[in-house]
Amino acid sequence: MTSTTASAPAVVRAGSLRSSIRVEPLTNAIGAELSNVDLGAASRDPALVAEIRALLLRHRVLFFRDQDMTRAEHVAFARHFGELESHPVAGSDPEHPGLVRIYKSPEVPNDRYENSWHCDATWREKPPFGCVLRCIECPPVGGDTMWANMALAYERLPEHIKTQIAGLRARHSIEASFGAAMPIEKRLALKAQYPDAEHPVVRTHSETGEKILFVNAFTTHITNYHTPANVRFGQDANPGAGLLLSYLIRQAYIPEFQVRFRWKKNSVAIWDNRSTQHYAVQDFWPAVRNLERAGIVGDRPC
Ligand code: SIN
Repeated sequence: MTSTTASAPAVVRAGSLRSSIRVEPLTNAIGAELSNVDLGAASRDPALVAEIRALLLRHRVLFFRDQDMTRAEHVAFARHFGELESHPVAGSDPEHPGLVRIYKSPEVPNDRYENSWHCDATWREKPPFGCVLRCIECPPVGGDTMWANMALAYERLPEHIKTQIAGLRARHSIEASFGAAMPIEKRLALKAQYPDAEHPVVRTHSETGEKILFVNAFTTHITNYHTPANVRFGQDANPGAGLLLSYLIRQAYIPEFQVRFRWKKNSVAIWDNRSTQHYAVQDFWPAVRNLERAGIVGDRPC
């Protein structure tokens, strides 16, 4: 099964859409802009959501402009895909639990979390299925978000690397990311509440069956590298495992796997968090950038 946008599982064939959604792929690897669709109306139309879901599987990230929807519609639309989850560090809208506020302004320090290549919350046993992110206010310029196709990143790995990483597993940590700058008591309390998760280095997409390279900025180390096949002398383990992980994490940085989106007020992005990574470019400070994200509970990677 191939994984480029052009040849991804043909969930939606040209001309097979029931609705009048227009689909414009933005790169050959990932991402499409959809027009002639109102997500507020879609929040009340399961058949339309089903078409959008099929397009999501094909393009991995979908972009929409001019979605002047209410927060209740944003939540209702996202709920068609599953339960929503809050974030232990970023706060949610008080009236809409699960609608996480990603608000940046001169008063809020420009932090160091979204500007790394990552899948959301892989420190959870069940990382999110995906997210619906809407722009409330954006900088006049800057603050773009980028996504990378991690099925394509896997597909393009050299065969000997695919062989080497088959069966490897890795640890993902909120403690080492969001927790790192906290005082030790707070960091350990965060870790106690959200213990590190372990996932396969290559996961299988639960809907398409594709293989996906599944390490990112939350990944701290490979947990089962130190075997006789990889390590002749103990010395081989380090930096061997670290170099391999670093090489794998750097695959998301390759522009041929990416798309970059410029936000406008009421733009929406929906992404499949199982098969993509993203990076929010923090080049806009001190301008305001306010986005709201509905993160949808996912399944256990295997
Ligand atoms: C995120 O990392 O989920 C947020 C992306 C963004 O702020 O553009």
